[in-house]
Amino acid sequence: MFITIEGPEGSGKTTATNKVIEELTKLGYDVIRTREPGGTPISEQIRNVILDKSNTAMDPRTEALLYAAARRQHLVEKVWPLTKEGKIVVCDRYIDSSLAYQGGARGLGIQNIIDINMFATENTWPDLTLLFDIEPELGLSRIAANANREVNRLDLEKLDFHKKVRETFLELAKTQPNRFVVIDASKSQEEVASAALKAILARICK
Ligand code: TYD
Repeated sequence: MFITIEGPEGSGKTTATNKVIEELTKLGYDVIRTREPGGTPISEQIRNVILDKSNTAMDPRTEALLYAAARRQHLVEKVWPLTKEGKIVVCDRYIDSSLAYQGGARGLGIQNIIDINMFATENTWPDLTLLFDIEPELGLSRIAANANREVNRLDLEKLDFHKKVRETFLELAKTQPNRFVVIDASKSQEEVASAALKAILARICK
């Protein structure tokens, strides 16, 4: 099973996912956590290029292609082999981030991003996607309050950009209700983690 975790900056998805994986492991499930962009040495190198704050000249299509390239390598080296072994792979961000950030917020268009990603992933869609939904104002204020979190090139975008990201995520969830579960990430950490766990267990037991 391939589960992806999506949401805007400051949605608390990382903290909630840690908790959920701990619980699933306690229940005896073989769960592996990974992230995008990154997750393998080559993809982590691509990540550094994409997120480097000094790369202000990066063209939006270059950005979209680099995310897709990192994704491909991560699937080949990690996600496909692990899911084949029967493990549950939980991935922090995947194709919906490209659709929301590059397709929506950068304005490249959803279909263009689907096209390059279908080439990159050979049509690999997640079995389940949890969308941690939060108003960008609240998400960004959480990031600002967290001194440990490193600020990346996309964090530096204006509020309008992050609003467009959220809007596109919600639109995607609406059009693919069978794959998405939307979680209200403005709630307490406990409530958010418990909603996420419930959604995953419901999918596993289906
Ligand atoms: P990261 O530090 O992992 O952010 P977060 O903790 O919010 O997940 O940085 C990943 C950044 O890359 C984040 O701003 C979202 C962005 N992104 C895209 O724009 N497109 C993509 O396809 C992916 C996977 C991420």
